[in-house]
Amino acid sequence: MRSVLVGRDRELAALVGYLDDVQQERPSIVLCRGEPGIGKTRLAEELTVVAGDRDIPALWGVAVESEGAPPYWPWRQLLRGAVELVGIAEVNEDLARLAPDVFGGPQPTLEATASAEDRFRLFDAVARLFREITARSPLVLVLDDAHWADRPSLLLLQHLARTVRDERVLIMVNHRDTEHEHAAYFADLVREPITRQLDLTGLTEQGVAMHLASVVGHDVTPGDAQQVHLLTRGNPFFVGEVGRVLPAGKVAGGLAPVTANVREAIRSRLSRLSPGAVTLIHAASIVGREFSTTVVAQMVGATSMSCLSSLDEATAAGLVETGSIPGGHNAKKRRSDGRWQSEGPDLVVWAFFRSGGGRSGLIVRHRRAPNAA
Ligand SMILES: Nc1ncnc2c1ncn2[C@@H]1O[C@H](COP(=O)(O)OP(=O)(O)OP(=O)(O)O)[C@@H](O)[C@H]1O
Ligand SMILES: [Mg+2]
Repeated sequence: MRSVLVGRDRELAALVGYLDDVQQERPSIVLCRGEPGIGKTRLAEELTVVAGDRDIPALWGVAVESEGAPPYWPWRQLLRGAVELVGIAEVNEDLARLAPDVFGGPQPTLEATASAEDRFRLFDAVARLFREITARSPLVLVLDDAHWADRPSLLLLQHLARTVRDERVLIMVNHRDTEHEHAAYFADLVREPITRQLDLTGLTEQGVAMHLASVVGHDVTPGDAQQVHLLTRGNPFFVGEVGRVLPAGKVAGGLAPVTANVREAIRSRLSRLSPGAVTLIHAASIVGREFSTTVVAQMVGATSMSCLSSLDEATAAGLVETGSIPGGHNAKKRRSDGRWQSEGPDLVVWAFFRSGGGRSGLIVRHRRAPNAA
């Protein structure tokens, strides 16, 4: 059963406001970002429910990680939805090249080799189509998992961002801020006047208590809520996973239960890191909740210098936290602003390795560091 939405009143109110604007011919693009499992897709689903209550259709295009996905994959899904919505009979040659499966055209020319002029024509055809549709009805488009979108799809989105004027369209674009391939693109997109940004962060302790209660079907103790908040940093996906195993036992010893879903989620995040960064996090997890780069470098047989770049990579992917870590007591270093900072594996990642999750394929030279926890 689906859990009750908690702790997103502000974000949902903002989206409803943008929907009001769209109905007044003020279009917008909402760039919603956050780590995996933080609730981007869920928020978009809630938006489509509100839109549905107003008889505003919502179309979805979801980018996929697979390299085998055809060009413009998310847009093809959106265009298919658009065609079903308004029943387009006429075959537009440009649209047919972009989405032959939708518009019954010949096989597309490879986008990578298309000229800028050619591409502009394609984009303009899409813009005109949405202009026609939104003249009849406001429209919500959701482009989910945009961090996996192919470059041409992102360029098409950028074209719309720059050309849309008074169309009644709200485009919600979800992307993970732990994936950096298109980071510069999203930074550009956010500068377009039509774009608004929504940053999703973890639920508060109270939000965690409510989410847990909704998942387990009864209230949880404040102690459990506090513990789970600490373990998960309020990530709704992780909270939900902890909730699934809570009735069977308490959150023991400050160690997050690592369910099969959590294991899968972490494996998938680790799989996008370089082997050096994965080995570093694994080694750091053996040391404990805080680690010194020098110690970890010794463990993995690398130089401190090369460990620093792996550490940057792991931190950018959100798998290592910097800042003051609860219960931490050593390995702090002075930052350039004079304050003390510590580094440690994300708690759930730490629990993953502690539960043996990373055993296969990972080699750490020495099982225990000199000051291992
Ligand atoms: N505010 C919330 N209240 C209750 N449940 C939530 C909330 N946000 C998300 N969830 C639930 O948490 C899980 C993960 O959310 P979701 O799939 O939306 O994350 P995401 O940010 O889209 O992750 P990904 O980057 O992996 O696609 C889902 O089961 C969702 O229903
Ligand atoms: Mg999602």
